[in-house]
Amino acid sequence: MNTDKFEKHILCIGAGYVGGPTMAMIAARCPQYQVIIIDINAEKIKAWQTDDLPIYEPGLLELVKTARGKNLYFSTELEENIKKADIIFVSVNTPTKSFGEGAGKTADLQYWEKTARNILKVSVSDKIIVEKSTLPVRTADAMERILNSNDKGIHFEVLSNPEFLAEGTAVNDLENPDRVLVGSQETARGRKARATVVEVYANWVPREKIITSNVWSAELSKLVANAFLAQRISSINSISALCEKAEADVHEVAKAVGADTRIGSKFLQASVGFGGSCFKKDILNLVYICESYGLKEVAEYWENVVKINEYQQRRFVQTMTRALFNTITNKRIALFGCAFKANTGDIRESPAIYIAKKLLQEQARIVLTDPKALENTRQELGDLARKFDFEADPYKAAMNTHAIAIMTEWDLYKTLDYERIFQKMEKPAFIFDGRNILDHTRLFEIGFNVYPLGKEPLTHF
Ligand code: UDX
Ligand code: ADP
Repeated sequence: MNTDKFEKHILCIGAGYVGGPTMAMIAARCPQYQVIIIDINAEKIKAWQTDDLPIYEPGLLELVKTARGKNLYFSTELEENIKKADIIFVSVNTPTKSFGEGAGKTADLQYWEKTARNILKVSVSDKIIVEKSTLPVRTADAMERILNSNDKGIHFEVLSNPEFLAEGTAVNDLENPDRVLVGSQETARGRKARATVVEVYANWVPREKIITSNVWSAELSKLVANAFLAQRISSINSISALCEKAEADVHEVAKAVGADTRIGSKFLQASVGFGGSCFKKDILNLVYICESYGLKEVAEYWENVVKINEYQQRRFVQTMTRALFNTITNKRIALFGCAFKANTGDIRESPAIYIAKKLLQEQARIVLTDPKALENTRQELGDLARKFDFEADPYKAAMNTHAIAIMTEWDLYKTLDYERIFQKMEKPAFIFDGRNILDHTRLFEIGFNVYPLGKEPLTHF
């Protein structure tokens, strides 16, 4: 591999949902740069080198294939790749801390810090380090201090370039982002590093969409953007509970409210709850930061967004149990969808997993089905997996069940032959539509008892 022909050497540490697609896009749009992605997980790296990528994302394989082997490489080799990199993007995982100070709220920075120390150990020249993972505000500052505590005379400039891509639409979000945000220290060195990273994106993103800021604003913007998005979902979900009591229809309310251009119509789809790796984690991070600055009221305000989300999932289980004559013990129930949303195999924080566990506690017999996320679900459930049935085919999954609950808004579920499904179910048959994606009147006509979200149920008794 002749690396000398490349204008820049870009390295990304962490080949996950963020690092993989982002680097594939950079490589595809910037053939003049060499882009290498490394990960400690050798199996993952191997998968990135095949046509069976470790993550499911529409359009990603095609994108990877345009650059792989030309200027995009996947590797587990840390030392050499760090040494030659001009810019290092860090997108290692930052789960919520499960122990000690800030447990359950702030991010666990052990992977990040380990990465910083690895970079420090092997570097022999100045580098730009770019935070891609979502991190607590002022992490860049701490990392810069760790990195610049060296006696090798090397300077590290730490930038924040938060990722706003959403799973399922990652390729399009990267190709046509609403904005790219690059934060740096407001020093001459900081601004120079920032210009270098802006230059990378300017290869395909219009300049006016590339926003620059100080490093803390960039870090905080990511948390706040996700908190605002999640807040809209919790807002409409809280209203779905009211609609069910008040005989209003949440869909009609959302349409009327969203038609106000100041509010806007996106992210007002009532659901069984939001999931994904970011929303809960980022809000809890925000809450923790507010608490640590003594801003109790602000912390409580945002924490309620998460509480409503948990309430919505509990409420869904309650609706199911009550409708099924107050007992689901030994009743077979099919959950349609395990992924936290459609078009991804990701099940992190998926409401489906929470609801499956809750129903199991009530001793229901649960069959899980999903077009892309079954294997991840099996892994996530660990020892508990043997207590569930896994069935890729939704028709088979629904057989002999008392109820179906829609957990993920996969298009596939909208077009199933529900007449055929109804015939093979126990009677009375129930459908709980946790995503409001089905034709409820039609299902009722077939014979189902239908429980949408935020509207009156359609029942035959
Ligand atoms: C989110 C942000 O959108 C993205 O900008 C950020 O970089 C990472 O976090 P993601 O978690 O991939 O992306 O998914 P998103 O599309 O935001 O959906 C999150 C959850 O909210 C899903 O469970 C989804 O089903 C749910 N949702 C979304 C609703 O319940 N109702 C809506 O109206 C929209
Ligand atoms: P995200 O959704 O933020 O991209 P993922 O969990 O999908 O998170 O990806 C993070 C990746 O970072 C994982 O593949 C993990 O193996 C990798 N990783 C964690 N720590 C390190 C490390 N010290 N060096 C290299 N890769 C790491």
